[in-house]
Amino acid sequence: MKAGGDAPAGEDSRRYPALSDAGEKRLVVLISGRGSNLNALIEACSNGRIDGQVVRVISNRPQARGLDFARQSRIPYAVVDHREYPDREGFDHALAEVIEASAPDLIVLAGFMRVLTDAFVARFAGRMVNIHPSLLPDFRGLDTHARALAAGIEVHGASVHFVTAELDGGPVLMQARVPVHPDDDPETLAARVRAAEHRLYPAAVGLICSGRIQATGNKVCCDGRPLERPLLLDDTMETTKRCAGQA
Ligand code: GRF
Repeated sequence: MKAGGDAPAGEDSRRYPALSDAGEKRLVVLISGRGSNLNALIEACSNGRIDGQVVRVISNRPQARGLDFARQSRIPYAVVDHREYPDREGFDHALAEVIEASAPDLIVLAGFMRVLTDAFVARFAGRMVNIHPSLLPDFRGLDTHARALAAGIEVHGASVHFVTAELDGGPVLMQARVPVHPDDDPETLAARVRAAEHRLYPAAVGLICSGRIQATGNKVCCDGRPLERPLLLDDTMETTKRCAGQA
């Protein structure tokens, strides 16, 4: 699609509202484990790189290490333990109620290891993002680093995308690339990708909170224009570069 053009017939062109201009955005972050991306987001909110605040952290696992970051920062947190619900619908309904109680502008999935029902995804359409450890559409799903090494690729990375009903299939707004080294194993590659994620996720969430990025059906608009391909993280991008013209 050309910048500023109409969506082809049959393509989903619903434009979700940009986040309101009225000050700091309210972020609810969902985790299941380590929470290093949560920590990067908390720091970015504290130092002004994101015009927002993490108002609540929610984990589906009571022992998630990432909850320590919420405790250290005195951010309210909740556990919605998926094992206490008979099915996905019940869990997602309870989770949605806890999320809504915090009146978030944006729901940020940061290592949240649950597949979400279509109803849940529809309820938060256009205001829920996820980070995935690959250059989507390559390597959807799990074990991305081992699969990337097995495929022999030279460049790997991470992607931030709006969440749709398709697993790891929503429109990607920004990516970070990292080199694959000849002596990498899945752990060394994962560590390099994770370090890039800690810059990527705050940059992407910052752009959404500033109102410059918004979802348009299954596309992304940046500075009012549809993106033809995801933005690439670089140092300039995080601060001044405009999106328009990069599409
Ligand atoms: C990250 O690699 C992210 O891409 C994936 O899960 C991992 C979460 O790591 N979705 P952490 O819990 O933020 O440290």
